[in-house]
Amino acid sequence: MCGIIGYIGKQKVVPILLEGLKQLEYRGYDSAGLSVINNGKITTIKAVGKVAELQNKIGSRDFLGNIGIAHTRWATHGKPSDKNSHPHGDCEGNIFLVHNGIIENYQELKKILQKKKHKFISETDSEILAHLIEEFNKKLDFKKSVLEALKLVRGTYGLAIINKKEPEKIIIARNGSPLILGIGKDEFIVASDASAIVRHTDKIIYLDDGEIAEITSGGFEISNIKNKIVSKEISKLDWTIEESKKGGFDHFMLKEIFEQPEVIQNGLRGRIEHFLSEDNLPILGGLRPIEKKLRKIKKIIIVACGTSYYSGLVGEYMLEEYAGIPTEVEYASEFRYRKPILNDTTAIIAISQSGETADTLAAIREAKNKGALTLGIVNVVGSTIARETDAGTHTLTGPEIGVAATKSFPTQLLVLALWTMMLGRQREMSNVMSKRISEELKNIPHLIEGILKKSKEIKKIAKKYISAKDFLYVGRKYNFPIALEGALKIKEISYVHAEGYPTGEMKHGPIALIDSNFPSIFICPKDSVYEKNISGMQEIKARGGKIIAIATEGDKEILKLADDVIYIPKTLEMLTPFISVIPLQLFAYYFGVAKGYDVDKPRNLAKSVTVE
Ligand code: AGP
Ligand code: GLU
Repeated sequence: MCGIIGYIGKQKVVPILLEGLKQLEYRGYDSAGLSVINNGKITTIKAVGKVAELQNKIGSRDFLGNIGIAHTRWATHGKPSDKNSHPHGDCEGNIFLVHNGIIENYQELKKILQKKKHKFISETDSEILAHLIEEFNKKLDFKKSVLEALKLVRGTYGLAIINKKEPEKIIIARNGSPLILGIGKDEFIVASDASAIVRHTDKIIYLDDGEIAEITSGGFEISNIKNKIVSKEISKLDWTIEESKKGGFDHFMLKEIFEQPEVIQNGLRGRIEHFLSEDNLPILGGLRPIEKKLRKIKKIIIVACGTSYYSGLVGEYMLEEYAGIPTEVEYASEFRYRKPILNDTTAIIAISQSGETADTLAAIREAKNKGALTLGIVNVVGSTIARETDAGTHTLTGPEIGVAATKSFPTQLLVLALWTMMLGRQREMSNVMSKRISEELKNIPHLIEGILKKSKEIKKIAKKYISAKDFLYVGRKYNFPIALEGALKIKEISYVHAEGYPTGEMKHGPIALIDSNFPSIFICPKDSVYEKNISGMQEIKARGGKIIAIATEGDKEILKLADDVIYIPKTLEMLTPFISVIPLQLFAYYFGVAKGYDVDKPRNLAKSVTVE
């Protein structure tokens, strides 16, 4: 998720915190804030918007104090606003903290704390941590209070905390959100990534999940959640600032391809623990208020653009097969020219990573005028589409920096799968089926990790075809949209011509393109349409076309037809798009890099198309 910086040492802390926030800006964020402790007084300043807004609020005030924490927020719970910005404090104003991650059981904990008369200011999940620590701090010391509080928390956190009662220290803790401790000369820097540390020191310690560190200007002590001291190796940071922003990857696009197991875990967290929800529905807070309306839905139209449109096409198959609801998918830019028949039993689903795509926003507004229920599957909390739809679910992808969509795609698929289960369980889907899908969804991150391990093999195949000027991508059923997405990926980052088609359409024209210089990429897992795909491959082979096949592990037959095979593991047919897209993302990435292009910022493209 977003950025943390903390400092304790001899220098004035505010300039260091602001500089650190600036280094973290690249991660994308919606607000920022800091807390400084000095002479037993904590001053907290925070602002929605850019770090420059925070600086304006600080103005020319010359803050004393050499201990402080700061944060850039990527909202997940509570829209971007001053009061939802971090740091968050407790009732007494003794404890302030910054948090990266998601506290999945925050509502339960908030209720318990409210019964103990705690007053909350923000809508965030993070704020409950300050009050929880405050509760324990009535009887325990600072570190023990943090340890006891974290034992009650389910979810992910990277935390930096200060406390007026023990003003000479910062406590940090990590579970699922990275935290690094930089060791300077009589000073310590804490940050969520090395880019905010590298200009101060090259000696760093990576905290591991379940670890907590108590830091004073004289030193630090790291222990585990059971308060047992752990000894940690001091690493040498040999990245430049630029390299550290990409976490050691050559490009944001590759970093974000490799983040997919983690972001899917984030999207699953707290949403499919059926035991938490007596009616065995996915736990989707954003849909709860309209659950009754969803039961009345008789038709769904999905509107989106680009990659989001392709995730919608996968959703169409899911919703029709497992929820039994007639579904169509329309390019948002075309939707407004139709005379769509909409009424209050129609739901319009807008899918958008940015939540600001003008065509998708226009389609939503058109649908609302016609009385349809509008739902959003959006990554950016507080974005226009997220605000203007009647309800929705955030994909929790975190900031996607690369212009080409990668990690946002499977997180959109995840929400579509969860919605399919929600709508399906309201209709004919059995509890057994919904549990089966849930169990397989939990396995997806692991399956993706297995494919990512093949990146070198995929890089080799990309280089083998580097002279190709054209590609045909084909797939059927759940993997037809993946053929489209694969073609878009390679088009937009390496500027070669690529067509995505349903395999069955080839003989209706595109096969005329095929010769030995026009390779085809077949997405051909062992699924209900495998044999049909094989016959499509035979058509290509008979015309001398080269074939790269995405096939199921153990499929030896495919070797007789394909020139190159990239194997993927077996999973439920409706979930194959989560994994069949990964080799295509990597193929496009390595192809574009081999061509020498800037794959993070392709020519002519914007990350969010806010013009119609
Ligand atoms: C895909 O790689 C492109 N970045 C583009 O097609 C994108 O998917 C499209 O512009 C939609 O953006 P949105 O998801 O933010 O609405
Ligand atoms: N979940 C917290 C919030 O929404 C933290 C988000 C982040 O990691 O920036 O405020």
